[in-house]
Amino acid sequence: MTTTLDSILAGKYPAKAHARRVTEFLRARGHNAPSVLYLEAQKTRLIEDNDEPMPFRQRRPFFYLSGCLLPDSYLIYDASSDKLTLFIPPIDPESVIWSGLPMSASDALNMYDVDSVLPTTDVNASLASVAAAHGGKAVVFAIADQISETTKFEGFAESNLSVLKGAIENTRVVKDAYEVALLRKANDVSAKAHIAAIQSSRTAVNEREVEATFISTCISNGCREQSYHPVVACGESGGTLHYVRNDQGLFYPGTKQRKENILIDAGGEYRTYCADITRVIPLSGKFSRETRQIYEIVLQMQTECIAVLKEGVLWEEVHALAHRIAIRGLLALGILRGSEDELFEKRVSVAFFPHGLGHYLGMDTHDTGGNPNYEDKDTMFRYLRVRGRLPAGSVITVEPGIYFCRFIIEPFLKSPELSMYIDPNILERYWKIGGVRIEDNIHVTKDGYENLTTAPKAIEEVERLAL
Ligand code: GLY
Ligand code: MN
Ligand code: MN
Repeated sequence: MTTTLDSILAGKYPAKAHARRVTEFLRARGHNAPSVLYLEAQKTRLIEDNDEPMPFRQRRPFFYLSGCLLPDSYLIYDASSDKLTLFIPPIDPESVIWSGLPMSASDALNMYDVDSVLPTTDVNASLASVAAAHGGKAVVFAIADQISETTKFEGFAESNLSVLKGAIENTRVVKDAYEVALLRKANDVSAKAHIAAIQSSRTAVNEREVEATFISTCISNGCREQSYHPVVACGESGGTLHYVRNDQGLFYPGTKQRKENILIDAGGEYRTYCADITRVIPLSGKFSRETRQIYEIVLQMQTECIAVLKEGVLWEEVHALAHRIAIRGLLALGILRGSEDELFEKRVSVAFFPHGLGHYLGMDTHDTGGNPNYEDKDTMFRYLRVRGRLPAGSVITVEPGIYFCRFIIEPFLKSPELSMYIDPNILERYWKIGGVRIEDNIHVTKDGYENLTTAPKAIEEVERLAL
């Protein structure tokens, strides 16, 4: 597997194929005039009141059509001649002493899937010459707020600044083999980091030590960036979905008693592609009875939801399946009472599983093209980041959770209509858990799926690593 992965990644990022697919998307929507796509990289920006650059994050539309991580670069794709031209910064004699020589045009040509590489000083002349080659009949497509003031679209029939962003976002949903390999690599590195983080929890006394181990393992193994700010939350903080503090002690204050669990939601980014993985581990090395009960329900939610994935599956139905399993599990524990159907219809399980089952994953953690409806009146589906049927080639997270968050559950306990469905006495034993979420990254295929995530999640395995 590693050899296959490494040999795929030794090839070039398929920028040209992406440019063709974006153009096909535009054609299918009636844009039939000769098309020219124009994209800009993220600019080098300085921190306010300081001469240090801001942390650099490449613009995703630019990377998708170039595979290039250089700032201050440009790209032109002439669809009629299928010619992709990359423009990179030329040597600036003033900066060589500080930064060394920039990438040369011939190195860039070897590295990227483009037809030619020119200096950025040639962008306007090249745009003018492409426009002239089409006799003024071509349309140039660009992204409205990503065009330099110096750029000139002269000699084109039209400049369309409204559709390219959406076309790229839609095209990104279906990943090719190279992109899946990048996501797998990000997952492999992140699995190592999760294992190291779990092991570090044995002796750590503060959340930040576990976070440091995770990040350090990612960097050592080739993921310099994190896909998102890691969530390292112990005890009741595990009930906060995007907890960012990561600075709390792992012991109950003033005691030698460790808190119940630690939830780690973290993933490394590999050449702009993201892993997004959540694991929950017992801080004592062994799950308490209550955490084990909840963990088993969440693992069953995840396993059964993953098992039904394949091309064309309706994501709302998979999300509803997760709720059904949660309801059955919480009924068996006595936390919920009533009939499964009634609890489902009244949306009571939303008190314990308030977020969506998952989201597309790619160059963004919450990747593009999911068409969410955050205005949905139905609380069960409002936060679902993907709506509709999943195409083959999409990569989606499956991340069910059960949380004991007072802020979310207490209104249900106080509601005259809904309080009868929750047993507060039994619930009392579960607040200490915080939350259990288990999150894997799944590649949807024609007949099923591939799980890209190898980080351990079986109870015995997690306990063995944590003890
Ligand atoms: N790590 C963010 C999420 O799971 O959506
Ligand atoms: Mn996620
Ligand atoms: Mn996550």
